[in-house]
Amino acid sequence: MNSPGFPVVRPRRLRASPALRRLVAETQLHTSQLVLPLFARSGRKLRRPVTAMPGVFQLSPDEILREATKVCELGVPAVLLFGIPDKKDEKASGAYARNGIVQQVTRRLKKELPSLLVITDVCLCEYMAHGHCGIVHGGKILNDPTLKLLARTAASHAEAGADIVAPSDMMDGRVRAIRAELDNEGFFDTPILSYAAKFASAFYGPFREVAESAPSFGDRRSYQMDAANGNEALREVALDIQEGADMVMVKPALAYLDIIRRVKQEFGLPTAAYAVSGEHAMIKAAAANGWIDERAVTLESLLAMRRAGADLLITYAAMDVAKWLKVS
Ligand code: PBG
Repeated sequence: MNSPGFPVVRPRRLRASPALRRLVAETQLHTSQLVLPLFARSGRKLRRPVTAMPGVFQLSPDEILREATKVCELGVPAVLLFGIPDKKDEKASGAYARNGIVQQVTRRLKKELPSLLVITDVCLCEYMAHGHCGIVHGGKILNDPTLKLLARTAASHAEAGADIVAPSDMMDGRVRAIRAELDNEGFFDTPILSYAAKFASAFYGPFREVAESAPSFGDRRSYQMDAANGNEALREVALDIQEGADMVMVKPALAYLDIIRRVKQEFGLPTAAYAVSGEHAMIKAAAANGWIDERAVTLESLLAMRRAGADLLITYAAMDVAKWLKVS
């Protein structure tokens, strides 16, 4: 660049007013990019708060419908559904039961609010007595036998009307198995949003309280990725795309912006960033102490994810963000 530099060049010229700053902003946050996670369990009028996540609740189907109605009114296009079953076992029966909690709620939402996109989390940990994301034998998490259960789960979600299925288990080959089962059942058009680069993260702590899915022994390091590995994340994403993933996710988000950037740059697929429970909890806690400005920090964090390359933003703050974007 053959620039004369200062004083001819003054970058501050383009920062002089709000309108000018808006005109030259490279990245936008928009309500149409938001996805709100919701946690369903059976019951009526149940709205059970979670200590580690202010503003997040376990909700019965009627309350989910109320919440989802607000989501629609605010213009948030999608929810991500998790289920907490009445009973857990060693084969995650509740995950693929025709009348399982996610299946029930999905049917109800698609009937009452047809324009709301229902994304279902496909995983077994909430439904397993031991809390792991796969079948356990001899203290090990088995890969291949787990695939059948994941595929059945995804197909049962599609059958209930899910718009998108989102496998979050990190078993090898699950996208292929799910795609095959969906196609086999006639759900050719149901897209897969794969949690392709999902790291074994301490930021998931509060989620495990709300989803009641903490592993009863060991940890998830034999299937979720090591935080040290960026190149491996790209290989994981490449494999999921080969197997038929339509969209990919990086999770957590804020501590993994480099991965979001590389995934978007390398593959160009619609890419989701999941601002996970621990990220949300940190902002909430600091804001409650008056140490940070909740709104400003939340918006800045999400903007950073967009700048890194994320298209979809999965966030517990989706409804607040939608309100803030309306007035700003
Ligand atoms: C289930 C799953 C987890 C999250 C999403 N799906 C937890 C885990 O892997 O232990 C975490 C989401 C969050 O922390 O907000 N496999």
